[in-house]
Amino acid sequence: MPVKSVKDMDLTSKKVLVRVDFNVPIVNDKITDVTRITAAIPTIEYILKQKGATVILMSHLGRPKEGERKPEFSLAPVAQKLSELIGKKVIMAADCIGDAVEKLVKDSKPGDIILLENVRYYHEEEKNDPEFAKKLAKLGDVYVNDAFGTAHRAHASTEGITKFLPSAAGFLIEKEIEFLEPIVRNPKQPFVAVIGGAKVSSKIAVLESFLEKCSAMVISGGMSYTFLKAMGKKIGKSLLEEDYVDTAKKFLKTAADKKIEIIFPLDRVCAKEFKEDSEPIYVESDEVPGDLIGMDIGPKTIDAIKSCFATAKTIIWNGPVGVFEYKNFQKGTYAVAQMIANADAITVVGGGDSVSAMTEFGYADKVSHLSTGGGASLEYLEGKSLPGIVALEK
Ligand code: 3PG
Repeated sequence: MPVKSVKDMDLTSKKVLVRVDFNVPIVNDKITDVTRITAAIPTIEYILKQKGATVILMSHLGRPKEGERKPEFSLAPVAQKLSELIGKKVIMAADCIGDAVEKLVKDSKPGDIILLENVRYYHEEEKNDPEFAKKLAKLGDVYVNDAFGTAHRAHASTEGITKFLPSAAGFLIEKEIEFLEPIVRNPKQPFVAVIGGAKVSSKIAVLESFLEKCSAMVISGGMSYTFLKAMGKKIGKSLLEEDYVDTAKKFLKTAADKKIEIIFPLDRVCAKEFKEDSEPIYVESDEVPGDLIGMDIGPKTIDAIKSCFATAKTIIWNGPVGVFEYKNFQKGTYAVAQMIANADAITVVGGGDSVSAMTEFGYADKVSHLSTGGGASLEYLEGKSLPGIVALEK
């Protein structure tokens, strides 16, 4: 069902409470990927253009344990980064509910941007506590949800709050739906999915759902070894989820019955140890010799993916095909990023690592859509309803 849009709301002279997903990676106090912050800017700027409107942003950051107010979970660095990116002061609130925040919001002027402190500093947030949702709702006249990355969570700031304020979706949620929905319902064929990453367990549901709509699938990254094991191949000391070998067998049987081409690495780059400075060892085989660990795909595999992309009309990529965070083992992921950037198809990239790879390699603006959701985009693609979106339906 279509969602109500921020454009359907009269925001004149309103305090607009906006849920964003500013759950960004921070290493040594530095934000290492600003994709989620820049993705929220169109909605913020649109609201600021409405006469007399004030923007009050709220988000979570990380997973603080119940009520644990550790500085590493503070959104203060995000306020600073947003201010740099949007070229405007962002007022950082010391909390997300309570008298002081209510006063800060009441005293704010049209055109102000306030960022509330981490909503997960209250355990009531994740419990979707109605009293907590009501306290958040007190801060705005209307509510806009633009946190696609958190839309799979039924939390107070994503779902509960919609019971207390007129609610609508921001432009980011609308854009995510615009690109992901056709893939779920009726992707332009041939549709190729490249699924990588470490674990079968976190991707099996989406792999199974793609069996209904893909013409070909590339399975790579750490998770491919559980499938290779299921096929009776040698995997050396590569990553294995023993509990998922039977699931992998069933998946392969269904794929064969449906005549869906599944491309596994045909050759690979291995290492003796899972370390950044390990020497890359090329193995021209679909098996991994005894003492080695599979770390990346090799040139034969890259060529196979290239042929598969040549006729594709829709390509989705989720999860790196190798250990791309280690320079010695990032060639495969780089090649996939480059092929996706050059593909003559609708291209959608999701998942934190693949999105970071596209950005790091300079291809972020060469894809049809970079999804800001990790878990949220996987659940959406599996065909599940996301509570944060359902709550915004007309
Ligand atoms: C994410 O990074 O996937 C979202 O921000 C949701 O975070 P969570 O998995 O901690 O709920």
